[in-house]
Amino acid sequence: MPIYYHKQDNIFHIQSKGMSYIIKVLDGFPVHLYWGKRLEDQSNFSYLIDPMRSETIDRLPQEYPQYGSGDFRHPAYQVQLKDGSRITELIYKGYRIFQGKPSLEGLPSTYVEDKQEAQTIQLELLDEYSGLFVVLYYTVYEDENVVTRSARLINNGNGDVQILRALSASLDFHDPDYEMIYLSGASRRERHIQRKAIAPGSVSIESRRGNASSHHLNPFFAMVRPHTTEDYGDAFGFSLIYSGSFRAEIEVDPFFTTRASIGINPFDFSWLLHKGESFQTPEVVMVYSSEGIGDMSRTYHRLYRNRLCRGVHKDNERPILVNNWEATYFDFDEDKILSIAKTGKELGLELLVLDDGWFGERNDDTSSLGDWFENKVKLPNGLKHLAKQVNEQGLQFGLWFEPEMISPNSELYRKHPDWCIHVPGRRRTEFRNQLVLDYSRQDVRDYIFTSLANIFKTVPISYVKWDMNRNLMEVGSADHPVTQQQEIGHRYILGLYDLLEKITNTFPHILFEGCAGGGGRFDPGMLHYMPQIWASDNTDAVERLKIQYGTSIVYPVSTMGSHVSAVPNHQVNRITPLKTRGDVAMSGNFGYELDLTLFTPEEKEIVKNQVELYKEIRLLVQSGEMYRLKSPFEGNETAWMFVSNDQKEAIVFYSKVLAEANLLPKDRLKLKGLKPSLIYQVDGINNDYLGDQLLYAGLPIPQLKGDFQSMMFCLKSLS
Ligand code: DGJ
Repeated sequence: MPIYYHKQDNIFHIQSKGMSYIIKVLDGFPVHLYWGKRLEDQSNFSYLIDPMRSETIDRLPQEYPQYGSGDFRHPAYQVQLKDGSRITELIYKGYRIFQGKPSLEGLPSTYVEDKQEAQTIQLELLDEYSGLFVVLYYTVYEDENVVTRSARLINNGNGDVQILRALSASLDFHDPDYEMIYLSGASRRERHIQRKAIAPGSVSIESRRGNASSHHLNPFFAMVRPHTTEDYGDAFGFSLIYSGSFRAEIEVDPFFTTRASIGINPFDFSWLLHKGESFQTPEVVMVYSSEGIGDMSRTYHRLYRNRLCRGVHKDNERPILVNNWEATYFDFDEDKILSIAKTGKELGLELLVLDDGWFGERNDDTSSLGDWFENKVKLPNGLKHLAKQVNEQGLQFGLWFEPEMISPNSELYRKHPDWCIHVPGRRRTEFRNQLVLDYSRQDVRDYIFTSLANIFKTVPISYVKWDMNRNLMEVGSADHPVTQQQEIGHRYILGLYDLLEKITNTFPHILFEGCAGGGGRFDPGMLHYMPQIWASDNTDAVERLKIQYGTSIVYPVSTMGSHVSAVPNHQVNRITPLKTRGDVAMSGNFGYELDLTLFTPEEKEIVKNQVELYKEIRLLVQSGEMYRLKSPFEGNETAWMFVSNDQKEAIVFYSKVLAEANLLPKDRLKLKGLKPSLIYQVDGINNDYLGDQLLYAGLPIPQLKGDFQSMMFCLKSLS
C-alpha cells in the first residue's frame, strides 16, 4: 500500500491492492495524471499528461483548482481577501507522507485501528500574496481500493479571509465517456437509483436543506463507463461524509475534460477565517472498482461497516425490535405498551421501542418538542417504571427523541424563544408545527445533553431512535455576529456532531438509530455516531425493494433499519403477504412496527418462525458480503444475497412483484460470491449443488403463485 514519491519528476503515486492514483506537480500546480486500475510503480508516468493539456491552465487536469487566473471551470475553492479580490494562486510547497490516518477536527471520518492499515500523504500549497495555506490530504487503505480526500485551509496571512467555497475534492478525468449514477428520491421514496450519460456542460446534485443531506439526493455519485454493469467495468465512487448541505458537480469542458467535485454546498455558505485560524472540509471517500458497481458497493460496505461506524454495537448482532409508531401513533398508555411487550416476548423479540408521544403534553404533533420529561397522563407511573416493566417482560427498552427540535407550544420555547434558528423580526416558519433548535450554540447543546443524560442515567435505556423532522428555514443565529450568519448551516452540523460525540461517548451501551422523517439523513456522517439508520418511513414490502436496493449502492445492510408493518400498508394501502414483509425486512436490521397483539394465532406462528430464522442468519446478513442479483428498477423480480466471509454460507433473497400467467420459468437465478468447488445444501429446495452450478447455471426458482411473493434460501457448504 505504499505511497511513492518520484523526486525527479515530482510525481506521487498512491497505490493500493488494485488501484493507482497519480499526481504530478507541474509548474507549481498539483496535476491529476491517473486514477484507475493498479499500475506497477515506475518513474516514467510523466507521459500521462498530454503536452496540449499543459499549454493552458484552462485545460490542465487539476487536484484542487482555483478561480481567477485562467481556469474557467468550476473551482474547488474560492476566498475573498481584505481588498475585496477573489483571486488566489495556490502553489505547491512540499509534502509529507506518514503511516496511519489523522482524524478530522470536529468532523466524522473513516479511521484506522492500526497505523499499518493506511498511509497518508499531505500536499502543502500556498498563495504567497494572501498567506492562504492549503493542505490536501489523501489516505489510501492497505486492503481496499479507496482514497479518502479532504482539505484544510489555514489563514497564515495578516488579515481576515472570507471563504466562499471550500470543496472536499475535485478531480479531472481525461475524457467524458462516463455515465453518472446517483441516488434520488423523496420522503417515503428514498434512494432510488438514477443513471444518465454526461455531456458537455454541467450536472449537479445537492442539498440546500442546511441540517440534512436530504431524502432527495444522497451525498454520493459514481462515474461509470457506459458499458459498466453490476459485475464488469470501471466504477469511480464519491461519497461525502457530511450530513448538511452538500453539492456535487460533474462538468464536461470544451476540451472534453470531465471535472468531478463534491463538498459543502457553496450556496448560502461563507466562513470568516481570522488570522491563524483554519477550516477543515469534510472527507470524501473515493472508491475505485474495475469489477463493476457491485464491487464498488462492497468496498463501501466493508469500509463503512468496519472503519466508519464505531462503538460496541458496530460488530454486535443487532436486537430484533418492535416499535409502537405504526401500532399506536400518539394514542397509547402504559398498559398498551406493556401488552405489546408481552406479545413481543412470546414471539421472541428482544427490544421494545417507545416512539413519539411519551413526553410533555404530546398527544399529536402540535406540541412539547424540547420538554423531555414523561407525559404523566399516558405514563402515570413514569418512564422508569415502564422501562423496568418492559425489562421484566424480558425485553430491552428503547426510546424515541427528536432532540434537535422545539415546538413553539412547549415549556422550553416559552422560556427560551431565542434558542431556535431564526432571523429577528421575520416570521418563524413552522413545519410539522415545529422549529429547529440552534445547534450552533453551545448553551443549547448543553441543555439538550443534560436533558437526555438525566433520562439515560435514571431509566434503563438500551436504544435511542434519534429523529429529525424539519429542515432549516429563516437561517440565522442570535448567538453569532452579522458577518458570520452564512456560517450557521455548517456550524449547526458541527454542533450536531459535537453533541453526538459527547452523548455516544458518555453512554456507549446505548444503541443509537438515526432517523429523519425516515431516511432523510441516511449519510456517512451520521453513521460515524450511529451504526444504524431508519431507512424510510415507507414500510411497504414492495416499495422497500427499491429503497433497500438503492441504499445498498453505498451503505451496508447492517446500517439499514427495516420493519414488518401491518396491512393494508399505512403508506400505500397495499396488502402483501406476511412472509414477503418478513423476508424483505430481514435484509436489514429486523423489527416489527405494528400492534403485535392483533396477530391471529396462525400469524403468530409465522412471526415466531421469522424471528427464529433471523436469529440464525442475522450475523451473516449484517456482516456478510452483499451481492445484488436482480434489480427492482429493471423488472418484476428482485434478488440479492449475502455470503459469509469464508464463502461457506449464504442467504439468497428473491421476490417477484406481480404474478404472470402462462409463462415458462425464466432463466435460473445465477448466484454470486460462492466458491465454485464447494458443495452447497440449499434449504427450501432440498437439493445439493456444486458452487459452479449455482454460479454459472443458476439456482432454479420455484413458480410463485400470487402477487408480491418472495422466497429466502439458506445455503450451507457441506465440505
Ligand atoms: C418520523 C419518523 O420517521 C417516524 O418513524 C416516527 O418516529 C415519527 N417521526 C414520529 O413522529
